[in-house]
Amino acid sequence: MNRDDALALDGADVLAPLRDRFQLPDGLIYFDGNSLGALPIGVAERVADVVTQQWGHDLISSWNVNGWMAAPRRVGDKIAPIIGAGPGEVIVGDSTSVNIYKLLSAAVAMRPDRKVIVTEQNNFPSDSYVIASVAKQHGMEVHYLDLDDPTTPLDTNVAIVCLTHINYRTGAMHDLASITARVHAVGALMFWDLAHSAGAVPLALSDCDVDMAVGCGYKFLNGGPGAPAFAYVAKRLQNDVHHPITGWLGHAAPFDMSDQFIPALGIDRITVGTPSIVSLVALEAALDAFDGVDMADVRAKSLALGDYLIELVMHRCDGYGLSLASPIDSQRRGSQVSFVHEHGFPVVRALADVGVLGDYREPGIIRFGLTPLYARFCDVYDAVDRLSEILRTERWREPQYAVRGAVT
Ligand SMILES: Cc1ncc(COP(=O)(O)O)c(C=O)c1O
Repeated sequence: MNRDDALALDGADVLAPLRDRFQLPDGLIYFDGNSLGALPIGVAERVADVVTQQWGHDLISSWNVNGWMAAPRRVGDKIAPIIGAGPGEVIVGDSTSVNIYKLLSAAVAMRPDRKVIVTEQNNFPSDSYVIASVAKQHGMEVHYLDLDDPTTPLDTNVAIVCLTHINYRTGAMHDLASITARVHAVGALMFWDLAHSAGAVPLALSDCDVDMAVGCGYKFLNGGPGAPAFAYVAKRLQNDVHHPITGWLGHAAPFDMSDQFIPALGIDRITVGTPSIVSLVALEAALDAFDGVDMADVRAKSLALGDYLIELVMHRCDGYGLSLASPIDSQRRGSQVSFVHEHGFPVVRALADVGVLGDYREPGIIRFGLTPLYARFCDVYDAVDRLSEILRTERWREPQYAVRGAVT
């Protein structure tokens, strides 16, 4: 296992040319695309155009002439093939947290006689918090179940099952198809949070008959900091979805300025207020990085990168207090590999100091997001080389690495 092996793997990588679709700082190894995707080429120019020409010159007429009004739907249609959804099933806007609230509230109202929301332990905080709020508002119970265990029972009191497909800490991935089928077998609705899945792994929402889903625009979709999120509702359900944030742009005819809310038909009713056009245009341009990309190739490379990283860490970092927090079985892993270390935070900071950007999550989790569109096998090799050196020399003990910013 030397660097030449890594270079040979890069030489055989069918996705290697896609790295040129991104603007990456020289010499930096970027393993944090699960948190903020890198900047795709062309985004800066499109954003400059929307600001200087469309906003600066065309001004208010841009809502019509530059397609601003249609942007949430248009960008949704661009995300749809990446997640295995159809046209008109995805809309972009708001944050993932807000979309969870909107869709979950609508879902529980669609099963009024059922009193249970099922979710999981160790979910992302927003998911847990919003599920608790919705349950409280609707007088429901929240049950925390392990649905990876096929013997875990579900019953007809369950209104909705709300899970995060790929866990943000460990990268562990649920079996979306089989869990969705079990949930439907008891007449409940299935809601997936795809924050760490969209753009990272192949998804087949339509084929799996998923009811509702949400996900982030700024992670593996590379839409930029605070990019708007997406919401998916299966076409067959859309006109039964009544979410509680009934803003004017979810209205069937917003410019009638009617006193009474009449929801738009289809996915448009998920929209609330004025779309964030600059961010939407950035996300739209960023999605060009997926043009012609086969998600099966993305998955194959992601698994190979993850397996290579684990193998190198086990070989080179043994005895330094690092243990694997992700599933060793690559089929059960998303596009992220996490390790746990008692001093994970200063280790991550020391790594950043030598040009390897991963990130840290409590408790003790070191996360490496592997974005197959731009991560290379030689990056994995070099990152582990530097990690083993930091652990061997205990460089992470230097006091500057203990200082925490607002974001870890
Ligand atoms: C799994 C998951 N769900 C929800 C969110 C929240 O997204 P937002 O901050 O866009 O509301 C995140 C953010 O990282 C996440 O990882």
